Amino acid sequence: MTPADRIDELRRLINHHAELYYERSAPEIADAEYDSLVNELRDLEAQFPDLIVPDSPTQRVQGRVAFENLVEAGPLLSLAESEDNAPKHRHAEQMLSLDNAYSEAELRAFDERVRKQLETAEDIDYVCELKIDGLSIALTYDNSSLKRAATRGDGVHGEVVTANVQTIKAIPKKLRTLVIGKFEVRGEIFFPRKAFEALNNEKLLAGEVPFANPRNAAAGTLRTLKSGAAAKRGLSAFVYQIVPVDLQDPLPVSHNEVLLMLERWGFPREPHTTLCRGIERTIDVIESWKEERGTFDFDTDGVVIKVDRLADRPVLGTTSKFPRWAIAFKFPAEQKTTLLRRIEVNVGRTGAVTPFAMLEPVFVSGSTVSMATLHNADDLARKDIREGDTVLVEKAGDVIPRVVGPVLSKRPPDAQPWVMPTECPRCGAALHRGEGEAVWRCENTSCPARLQRGLEHFASRSAMNIEGLGESLIAQLIEGRLVQDYADVYALTMETLAGLTSSSTRSDGKAIERRFGEKNAAKVVEQIERSRTNELWRLIYGLGIRHVGERGAEVLEEAFGSMDALIVATVEQLHSTREIGPVLAASIRSWFDEPRNRQLIKRLRAAGLRMDVPPEERGARSAPGPLAGKTYVLTGTLSALTREQATDAIERLGGKVTGSVSRKTTAVVVGVDAGSKAEKARTLGVATLDEPAFLALLAEHGS
Ligand code: IVH
Repeated sequence: MTPADRIDELRRLINHHAELYYERSAPEIADAEYDSLVNELRDLEAQFPDLIVPDSPTQRVQGRVAFENLVEAGPLLSLAESEDNAPKHRHAEQMLSLDNAYSEAELRAFDERVRKQLETAEDIDYVCELKIDGLSIALTYDNSSLKRAATRGDGVHGEVVTANVQTIKAIPKKLRTLVIGKFEVRGEIFFPRKAFEALNNEKLLAGEVPFANPRNAAAGTLRTLKSGAAAKRGLSAFVYQIVPVDLQDPLPVSHNEVLLMLERWGFPREPHTTLCRGIERTIDVIESWKEERGTFDFDTDGVVIKVDRLADRPVLGTTSKFPRWAIAFKFPAEQKTTLLRRIEVNVGRTGAVTPFAMLEPVFVSGSTVSMATLHNADDLARKDIREGDTVLVEKAGDVIPRVVGPVLSKRPPDAQPWVMPTECPRCGAALHRGEGEAVWRCENTSCPARLQRGLEHFASRSAMNIEGLGESLIAQLIEGRLVQDYADVYALTMETLAGLTSSSTRSDGKAIERRFGEKNAAKVVEQIERSRTNELWRLIYGLGIRHVGERGAEVLEEAFGSMDALIVATVEQLHSTREIGPVLAASIRSWFDEPRNRQLIKRLRAAGLRMDVPPEERGARSAPGPLAGKTYVLTGTLSALTREQATDAIERLGGKVTGSVSRKTTAVVVGVDAGSKAEKARTLGVATLDEPAFLALLAEHGS
């Protein structure tokens, strides 16, 4: 069989199995086997580049499918998958995100990189599109009919929202032209500003809580409402990408032409979209849009710049998150002035006491802000922000509102400098702060404010996932002294919960008492019960140990396998675990050294919580793999895998990944921009693997 024949055969096999997997959800071969077909094809194509054709599965999936499958077997994605029961769709190609630029200099640097990689001194054609602040959507069409709509989800799998999307007028259910075959179109669903205002007015009139911004309103409408609402409420959409799956006709050679073609087919195209020759012209267009942005009928947070010539894109490639052929220029954060009414302090679950501003509500970057962070007491004192000041407010990274500083010319004559309290506002304990630390802390571990925040975290969706155990129920439980630590949650009964009452004031000023009731109580008790068998990492994360995030908890679960092993782990053992640095190691150790915390673990154990990884899962992990006893070092950037994915792949085959090269190292995997480790390998005579060789090694072992 010639290489060309084998390439053909592989393409046929891959297309067949991809269809079984994606379309019929009936795979006939294991993911690993599928991956090795893709890897073999990729290797052959690397050897015989002349045989690469645009519709090869390697081009279609941009080398992703195989590696997504690899990751899927790992802990992260399978958890993301099990978060809820909504039907999931696996995207034809990963939905990537965009790298950001905040200045003209960064845009010029992007252009430099592009020209360098394309080896040209000529001006590049860029398409400028407004970056719509909505929700990305993937629409699957087959022979001109809309078959499925899915949200972005984690980029690999999205939530199926076809019924709602079908009612959005802007999205064609049937194309104007007959297009034979299958493709995915991507775009953004958003609320036009006028429709958003009308919707919120309606909500206010009905006495409901209005949506904070058009984006939330769009997400809420897509996910939670019965179809029909999307149409009535006036959601709209623009599209900006096509991903061919098996199209009969070839696509145009430029992005701009693709957009025009999509428009002819009946898709909505954002009308400002402009083709620009060269980066200077591109910057002019961005400047003009910056001025106009307030006048558009939708929220936009910047401009997306894309290399127009489609043949250039595979040459530029992608990182694990972003394409290298596009960049998002973010408009500078919008700033507004408003009145700072009061400065209050919040007590967090770790005891951190931080000041925040209560503001006269003001609309900034797409939402109404009435509270904003003030970081810490030092920052506040340095900026000399006072109650009664008129202050400048912006959203950091367009998300978290913060006070930039006071407008001194508007300061009332009697405004006094603000003084940080010396005692915890909730329990009265003296506040402390460590050497060199900016944050003051309440060190009373029984402080009700700490318990409140701690329990909210413990029960949260990403930790123990106890639905119904939210802020107000927790407040009632603490108030009634029904819980004094997390273990008390497991002693709550139907009767106790059902009998809880809360009082609130109606809009006409009348006070009302509400019983929690049997129905709600039953739901919460069931959730609590279910959480006893949660995976161990959820509990580790839920404990709220400083610096231990979800990923850290997963790493600890994988490395130690049980709470018993974790409790006795030394700082050195913790530190030698992949991804656990010295700060994290010390923080974990000191948390378990606290007798009160050990007591808590004991009580949680007595309550029947799972404290280890079931043997069947453990067994799968620790079986000696084909790379057992081998040690690898990763350096530089790989194009197909993130460092984490590469590490996972090696470890799944039984190998080890370490940070430094020694004579004992089996091989150093060398990516782009590799540093001194590649040098060291050569000096020590340690083998090196470039990316194709590394991928071949993984493929050889079916990973
Ligand atoms: S292109 C591989 N174009 O921005 C390229 N994205 O930060 C992927 N977005 O998830 C996206 N307007 O939801 C592209 N004209 C536009 C866009 C746009 C809004 C969103 C999209 C994406 C996010 C990335």
